Amino acid sequence: MTSKSQALLNWIDERFPLTSTYKAHLAEYYAPKNFNFWYFFGSLALLVLVIQIVTGIFLVMHYKPDASLNAAGVPVAFASVEYIMRDVPGGWIIRYMHSTGASAFFIVVYMHMFRGLLYGSYRKPRELVWIFGALIFLCLMAEAFMGYLLPWGQMSFWGAQVIVNLFSAIPLIGPDLSIWIRGDFVVSDATLNRFFSFHVIAVPLVLLGLVAAHLVALHEVGSNNPDGVEIKKKKDANGIPLDGIPFHPYYTVKDIFGVAVFLIVFSAIIFFAPEGGGYFLEFNNFIPADPLKTPPHIAPVWYFTPFYSILRAVTSDFLIVLQAGVAAIWVWALLRAPAIGKAIATAVAVIVIPGMFFIDAKFWGVVMMGAGVVVLAFLPWLDQSPVKSIRYKGALTKVAIAIFVVAFVILGYLGVLPPTPGRNLTAQICTVLYFLFFALMPIYSKLDKTKPEPERVTWK
Ligand code: HEM
Repeated sequence: MTSKSQALLNWIDERFPLTSTYKAHLAEYYAPKNFNFWYFFGSLALLVLVIQIVTGIFLVMHYKPDASLNAAGVPVAFASVEYIMRDVPGGWIIRYMHSTGASAFFIVVYMHMFRGLLYGSYRKPRELVWIFGALIFLCLMAEAFMGYLLPWGQMSFWGAQVIVNLFSAIPLIGPDLSIWIRGDFVVSDATLNRFFSFHVIAVPLVLLGLVAAHLVALHEVGSNNPDGVEIKKKKDANGIPLDGIPFHPYYTVKDIFGVAVFLIVFSAIIFFAPEGGGYFLEFNNFIPADPLKTPPHIAPVWYFTPFYSILRAVTSDFLIVLQAGVAAIWVWALLRAPAIGKAIATAVAVIVIPGMFFIDAKFWGVVMMGAGVVVLAFLPWLDQSPVKSIRYKGALTKVAIAIFVVAFVILGYLGVLPPTPGRNLTAQICTVLYFLFFALMPIYSKLDKTKPEPERVTWK
């Protein structure tokens, strides 16, 4: 470094922790040397977040959140998206990067979460990294849901109508609550304006804060790895983990490779199949919203469908299965759980079991859909295995994860299809399997025959 640039750096360092931050989080952040394919997805999630924010900024320059009709009788919001696609120079690619980017975000985040599941990255001391992650996932769902209303197509309108109506199933406050959310008796201009406001500013702010907290928490405890071995336990004379390598340049280079591959695939999709065959942008959303014409089949975008399937699976005859499940967990908690577990299980059972006789199944569907996401946050305490990584877990856990993944994919697939009695039954079975994965985890993770974890990471 020349003396002038060194002097400038010194000047900055005396006023702002630039060099120390660079060292703490990049050059002297020691990450395990055995990261594999699954470790690409954190940095890719960051990349997609940036893509969404940058393309979003440009979209807002031309988009108009206005449900009134223009001179041609087309809603202004819908027409403004068409204007971006046809008349704004480069508008089509910015719009497709954003709309396809939403699906890319969920693909990347699902892979990222699955990595955590495989290698037990949610376990002590990374519980908060995981919980911040679960909150990010919730925010991401809210962000995508509100964003989908903005083009004001048929699916935007009717999807929002169906989902906001779900809140009306909540006893006593439900009907008023859904009017309050919409700002009107039906989804309307008021709804479009508030969803726009939340989508472009409120939720992204929370999301950015959570991502910062996620990374700060991760760097406090250090990264896990495919062996689930804590590298901080074995350090050299200088206090550097023996199995650690500096994040920069080793993993910055690895991540740049991942970014290059991702961008090739992402560009190919944007150039050749931006609508993903109706999965990324549904065909009905190319028709302007019409409050007087309900589309024959309303389905959310693919990334919501596993949870949407859980919602639809909860019919009134399915409630008995849920009651039995809650009762079984209650009995188990009374016999085995610590005092706090007993108290929580008793409170839930006393409210839920009789409640299911009096309150409509639609409400319990909403509860189960929410529970399907919230239960993720409890993984750090449900997993009782002595080892973290799938590499050293036994057949029971491997089979449980395989069944869980298959059930999740089937739920996702069923969610895009119109319901039939056969599909409903399949969704109900998969819903049971989905929740059993979590409910039985304290049992099978303890019974499982594990292999001893190695002292040091394994690496070729
Ligand atoms: C906007 C979304 C997200 C971004 C930008 C993000 C970013 C990152 C980054 C950059 C890392 C470090 C690199 C890596 O380990 O791959 C990381 C680690 C991690 N993330 Fe996320 N993440 C997001 C969402 C989530 C979600 C939804 C979860 C789980 C519910 C999650 C759980 C974790 C865990 C457990 C780790 C530590 C993994 C380990 O050390 O093995 N993240 N995240």
